[in-house]
Amino acid sequence: LFLTGLSGSGKSTIARNLADALAERGDRKVTLLDGDLVRQLLSAGLTFSRADRDLNIVRIGFVAAEVARHGGIAICAPIAPYASAREQVREMATATGDFLLIHVSTPLEVCEARDRKGLYAKARAGAISNFTGISDPYEEPRDADLVLDTSTMSRAEAVDAVLGLLVAGGWLASSGR
Ligand code: ADX
Repeated sequence: LFLTGLSGSGKSTIARNLADALAERGDRKVTLLDGDLVRQLLSAGLTFSRADRDLNIVRIGFVAAEVARHGGIAICAPIAPYASAREQVREMATATGDFLLIHVSTPLEVCEARDRKGLYAKARAGAISNFTGISDPYEEPRDADLVLDTSTMSRAEAVDAVLGLLVAGGWLASSGR
């Protein structure tokens, strides 16, 4: 499960809640690969240049494909602004399992108004360069399996939509809820 979207779009919250919901059901082992967490260790030292972002995404894809190969569900939640890197991960994942792209499409204005980490203000002030949505691109996915806008739906609705997708596709039993 690959969540992509702007900083502050709600990816991490949905990913965490989804991981909890899936763990509660207990039928699949879940690994959470959140953007900020990955950057603290797996991708420590990488910048936000295109090359480093692409490398970050491919590393996440590699780990996710390993998780899938062993029958688990990997929930990934990086910004992943470039379509080609997302496509590369899709290819890596589908070699061993299935891949679902979830676009957390919360509009930039909403993410910026939330500004939970204060990074949008810094980016506007020029204190951070190459900030996605402000001074760096975000390529909107055209191949998303699901689109979730957290400005118009609740956290529970977003998680339910993903669970519904998993049940509809036969990845998850519909019982237990
Ligand atoms: S990605 O582009 O490589 O997919 P990733 O999800 O790992 O990004 O990291 C994004 C997080 O890093 C943001 O949520 C934000 O907290 C922080 N960050 C720091 N600098 C930047 C930047 N220039 N652009 C985007 N996010 C940044």
